[in-house]
Amino acid sequence: MIIFSDVKKSFGEKHVLKGISFQIKKAEIVFILGTSGTGKSVLLKNIVGLLRPDSGEIWIDGQEKSTFKEKDFMGLRKRCGMVFQHPALFDSLTVFDNIAFGIRKHYPKSTHQEISERVKNCLELVNLNGIESKFPPEISYGMQKRVSLARTLAIQPDILLFDEPTTGLDPISTNKVNHLIQELSTKLHTTSIVVSHDMHCALDIADRIIVLDKGLVIENASVEDIKKSKHPLVVDFLKEALANE
Ligand SMILES: Nc1ncnc2c1ncn2[C@@H]1O[C@H](COP(=O)(O)OP(=O)(O)OP(=O)(O)O)[C@@H](O)[C@H]1O
Ligand SMILES: [Mg+2]
Repeated sequence: MIIFSDVKKSFGEKHVLKGISFQIKKAEIVFILGTSGTGKSVLLKNIVGLLRPDSGEIWIDGQEKSTFKEKDFMGLRKRCGMVFQHPALFDSLTVFDNIAFGIRKHYPKSTHQEISERVKNCLELVNLNGIESKFPPEISYGMQKRVSLARTLAIQPDILLFDEPTTGLDPISTNKVNHLIQELSTKLHTTSIVVSHDMHCALDIADRIIVLDKGLVIENASVEDIKKSKHPLVVDFLKEALANE
């Protein structure tokens, strides 16, 4: 469903992605782990077209992205929902309108009733009820993060890209979000790419774990095989995950 083939991206002299290759199948949950500044967010932004690679190919459902026209990107953004690292809600819109915004844009024929129902359902999915009329600055950071997840779910994408969905959330909300990612994969066959520092979550719900370091893929393996990895960075991530158990 998603193929990266020798993708490179630099900003000036700074080489961030130095030749990334991997494949992701439909309904897979793939975690991308790596230390801070290693290019995880840049990688996700390349998938949705917020950034373009300098070289290499990105294939989505049999179409190579450099051949995309503007209208293809519009279609891609509907199919491919990205939950950003920081919530990035519209502060001057209510929670309801923040979530409804994408529905109105991507499903312009929706009635008010359909929009209301979908907003309510999506808020329930992230365990937030009755906050439709609040403005983002009035709710906590963790709640804003979950609203931003609800806003993405509302578009009903079949590929979900999460940039650190649980960083800054309490353990109970973290579990709920992880459980939700699993449920979307099994029930709706949603493909999920989850960027994270959290090996503990990855071991829990990932089908596969890709570890990036200094712009390169250093591991790409199932949870079972990752646990046997001898790579020092992976060993460190594993140690930390086990210490937090
Ligand atoms: N638009 C940009 N212009 C210039 N440099 C950028 C841009 N976006 C990212 N970078 C640089 O690319 C590198 C990788 O950034 P990225 O945000 O992908 O890291 P990350 O792995 O997501 O880190 P974190 O775990 O802290 O979120 C950083 O050094 C960053 O400064
Ligand atoms: Mg990041």
